[in-house]
Amino acid sequence: MSMFGAVGFSLTTKSRHLLLRSLQRKGCAARCISTTPFPEFDDLVDIKTHEDLHKFSLEQPDTFWSRLARSRLTWNKDFSTVSKCDFKTGQLEWFVEGTLNASVNCVDRHLKERGDQVALIWERDEPGTHVYLTYKELSEMVGRIGNLLRNSGVKAGDRVAIYLPKTPMAIATMLACARIGAIHSVVFAGFSADALAGRIQDAEAQTVVTANQTVRGGRIIELKQTVDAAVSKCPGVKQVLVYNRTETKVPMGKLDIDMVEAMAHESPDCPVEERNSEDTLFMLYTSGSTGKPKGITHSTAGYLLYTNVTFKHAFDYNPGEIFGCVADIGWITGHSYALYGPLSNGGTTLLFESTPLYPDPGRYWEMVERLKLDHIYLAPTSLRMLLKAGDEYVKKYDRSSLRKLGCVGEPLNSEAWEWYYNVVGEKRCDIIDTWWQTETGGICISPRPSEPGAEIRPGMPMRPMLGIDLALVDTQGAEVTGEDCEGALCIRRPWPGIARTIHGDHQRYFETYFKPMPGMYYTGDGAHRHKGGYYQITGRMDDVLNVSGHRLGTAEIEDVMDDHIDVAESAVVGFPHEIKGEGIYAYVVLKDTRTLGKKEIETQLRAGIKKRIGNLAQPDMILFTPGLPRTRSGKIMRRILRKVASDKPDELGDISTLSEPEVVDYIVKKHEQLR
Ligand code: WT7
Repeated sequence: MSMFGAVGFSLTTKSRHLLLRSLQRKGCAARCISTTPFPEFDDLVDIKTHEDLHKFSLEQPDTFWSRLARSRLTWNKDFSTVSKCDFKTGQLEWFVEGTLNASVNCVDRHLKERGDQVALIWERDEPGTHVYLTYKELSEMVGRIGNLLRNSGVKAGDRVAIYLPKTPMAIATMLACARIGAIHSVVFAGFSADALAGRIQDAEAQTVVTANQTVRGGRIIELKQTVDAAVSKCPGVKQVLVYNRTETKVPMGKLDIDMVEAMAHESPDCPVEERNSEDTLFMLYTSGSTGKPKGITHSTAGYLLYTNVTFKHAFDYNPGEIFGCVADIGWITGHSYALYGPLSNGGTTLLFESTPLYPDPGRYWEMVERLKLDHIYLAPTSLRMLLKAGDEYVKKYDRSSLRKLGCVGEPLNSEAWEWYYNVVGEKRCDIIDTWWQTETGGICISPRPSEPGAEIRPGMPMRPMLGIDLALVDTQGAEVTGEDCEGALCIRRPWPGIARTIHGDHQRYFETYFKPMPGMYYTGDGAHRHKGGYYQITGRMDDVLNVSGHRLGTAEIEDVMDDHIDVAESAVVGFPHEIKGEGIYAYVVLKDTRTLGKKEIETQLRAGIKKRIGNLAQPDMILFTPGLPRTRSGKIMRRILRKVASDKPDELGDISTLSEPEVVDYIVKKHEQLR
């Protein structure tokens, strides 16, 4: 019981499990008597199907969203105006003049009915050592951390950087920020010290929350050391809260506070800061097509409502069920569908701290059997990995608790879809392939909701979510109409969950998302509209890579390499990768004056990428070339670099407009040798 010191656990694992199951059964009973999934619209006689409701959501958006906002969220003060939005100017406001608090919506309001229900199941890295936390226990933790932050000088509107593994402490810290009106900025704990420092500086965070160490796949990761290195570059940081995730003592400096010890001195009752609908709930950095990551900023009311509604309806979540979103808390998926969506619905959510391959490729399914998950929500890249390991790892375990199988982050290819459906789900479960982005806040395209039993097609997320108005646009900026066609995917009208700005750079926000197609939100993805109006995503149209479902800007990696003293220039492109979806291919031009050998330079480039970004940005291939293919006007022909990297040298097309066509021959030959 020493895991949290003051905030220990009283029930044994077994009694907790029984309690959870009995609550689940009650939840099911409640579900069976509930009449419709959208009681808010029961009085509208002409709405009979989901299609009708989607149509209604577009025709009368204010009625649609205001009814949901009033019934699904708990407000301190009702809003006066539903939405004040204009895509032409990038001005976006929802639920104007309303006030509320996200931690109240995710915790306090459930205490009366569900205080003893399990809120969090922490699936620790160490196999078989899960921990249950009830809403009451979560509430205590949030209260203590909230008081600790407030008493340490954190005020509403201040940014708090969180660099923690996926643990109850991370969730409680995020909610504690929300409680006192501070803005959390979670940084994925796989990013390097430099990447963390950049994010702390950009957000001007004065408080950092981290752990002494973390464990991942059985390996110890020295989180505190990384934070020390980052904080040494951030003079603005005034304090670092350190949660002891392991027993190992780490050196504590003068900024460092032992978090659990300090929490013991705080009261579990923490006064709530009333927030305006449009106050920022959190920011989260993501990659764009320039080198600098963008601090995507989300609102309190709009974001919370959107994750609440999409969580419930995309997955058909029912009270008492266990939702297992395995994404890390460092990504938007962890924010929306491990925390805000499930907890604002009073649900039970899984915190998966490990990796799909530890201790073996059966980890997910063994966990499904042990914890009786009703839903699992994962990334296609891990499915492709597990599929290779063979069916025995799945079949060994009882998966009969599973009802819905979700995925997100990259296209779910048909082989992986079939395996997920036939092998994992034994043809019993709907496959919910969801499309969305850090910027959209929540799911925008998904097979459900739809009529119960309606067709689900492999390889595509299919249907626009309620309130989402999709459009395809061609390169000239004209809308592509009809079916069986392709274009740039845009969203024609605002929805509550859309990001409000990029921290400190509203101009970049406007130029990235609203300038390319005036009057619409530009997603950066291409899509195909099939017969029936179903959407399939074809991939990014900009210089953003999607590696194992993680977003990386090619420019970020190029910037690191270009800083090497012997590198003249570089170009990074993606190529199809069997497991990762997309691999990273770097073309590097060295200076004539270089003093080091290529091997040594490659080693240093890799070390530089590890240091400045993190190992997730490591190229699969580095090809040294005397030059890069350019047009006569000097623009790098990335199309050619992509074709070569994808093993398609015969599809290079017309290269006569290049300034030095012989560079292409060199690259093609060199690629043949390297692969
Ligand atoms: C990009 C957003 C949103 C959570 C995870 C990623 C790609 C996302 C799908 C899907 C095909 C997908 C897009 C998108 N993407 N879901 N179901 N099918 N592609 O969030 O890091 O903001 O990345 O991921 O390219 O733009 P993100």
